Amino acid sequence: MRFPKDLQWGAATASYQIEGAVSADGRSESIWDRFSRTPGKVQNGDTGDTACDHYHRYAEDVQAMADLGIKAYRFSLAWPRIVPDGKGKPNPKGLDFYLRLLDELQTKGIEPVPTLYHWDLPQSLEDNGGWVNRDTAKYFQDYAAYVFDELKDRVAMWITHNEPWCAAFLGYGFGVHAPGKQDFQQAIAAAHHLLVSHGLAVKAFEDLGSPGRIGITLNLTPQYPASDSSEDRAAVKRGDGFTNRWFLDPVFKGTYPDDIYELWEAAGVAPPVQEDDMAIISRPTDFLGVNYYTRAIVGHGKLPLLEMDTKPPVYPVTKMDWEIYPDGLYRLLMRLHEDYGPIPLYVTENGACFDDTMVQGRVPDQGRTQYLQSHFDAALRAIEQGVPLKGYYVWSLLDNFEWAFGYDRRFGIIHVDFATQKRTWKDSARWYQSFLAGQS
Ligand code: FCB
Repeated sequence: MRFPKDLQWGAATASYQIEGAVSADGRSESIWDRFSRTPGKVQNGDTGDTACDHYHRYAEDVQAMADLGIKAYRFSLAWPRIVPDGKGKPNPKGLDFYLRLLDELQTKGIEPVPTLYHWDLPQSLEDNGGWVNRDTAKYFQDYAAYVFDELKDRVAMWITHNEPWCAAFLGYGFGVHAPGKQDFQQAIAAAHHLLVSHGLAVKAFEDLGSPGRIGITLNLTPQYPASDSSEDRAAVKRGDGFTNRWFLDPVFKGTYPDDIYELWEAAGVAPPVQEDDMAIISRPTDFLGVNYYTRAIVGHGKLPLLEMDTKPPVYPVTKMDWEIYPDGLYRLLMRLHEDYGPIPLYVTENGACFDDTMVQGRVPDQGRTQYLQSHFDAALRAIEQGVPLKGYYVWSLLDNFEWAFGYDRRFGIIHVDFATQKRTWKDSARWYQSFLAGQS
């Protein structure tokens, strides 16, 4: 597999999933601290209290990145470390951690790609309504402006949000992620304010005259019909509208998709759009981050309003029950290029969860290697068709706190023993290392 020389290979993580040290140096409580401590919300009662202890072991982890040979590291900044009350006075000690991390990355020649929000909202903002409250978007802009200004000489590529669909709908609609609300109207409002906050952050970035590039990362899941029936095909269109177009259209076209907007409006749950919001949301950005794991097979069904259901997979699945479907990545990249391009694309997450076993100090995770290899291959096909794919980050560098599944689900290419914090390279990491060596 020969990829363009300038394709930026990397690995990704997120603050709450790896850092631990949840009360170190003035960090405040986040919605994930609260949610994970609420009995019954996270498998085994796991929390991110210690996670991979990356807060203290970052140097060792950056060394592993250098040994792997990656060129970029995508991580996220914890808002509760940097602006503990969510608004108002920043906490320089919290920012210092990221300065130490940036120093380390710089020494190793690895480009930092920070995400401003990967789901750890300061709990104090949630107490005032969280993303359902429009003020949160303004506070996000202030937090972003502070960070841009502090780090402008150190960071050349920024991601505003990670997967606002998940933050809004899993967090406020289905209740399976923090803050655990189950109110669809609130979820739609939260999604809108997340998008507004993205646009406000982009504006803050422009106002500062920041030299770098900025974009958003969306979780995009191509939808396939369960059958050829017109009902199933209509359900696929709604599924695509809800999952993909609801975020892509505002960001790139400055409008919500009519079909889904009309559904919400008829049900009295339309988003609280104010004048200028769509212009704010669609301010030009420099790239789109794509998180791809699987496709969805969809048919007419019971989900309220959307009248659709997700059907069982056809091909083998990972431990998440996510079907392994590399061609979905190819088609997604092609479609993004055709419908929303031209815009540089980055696969900001792609990877797989399996039941890993340690055999005499080795983790023979062929399944993960095959998964990565087949998805790299799909990406290469898209590149050969002219898609401007500029980077590819494997999820994840380390096994980590997998949200509602706690430590039960391992996505790392590096194994973490959570009792001892010992890191062990899985075979997939060794494969990635030799793959990267072959690309340079
Ligand atoms: C994505 C999240 C990431 C990780 C992977 C498996 O939805 O962005 O934090 O949990 O899924």
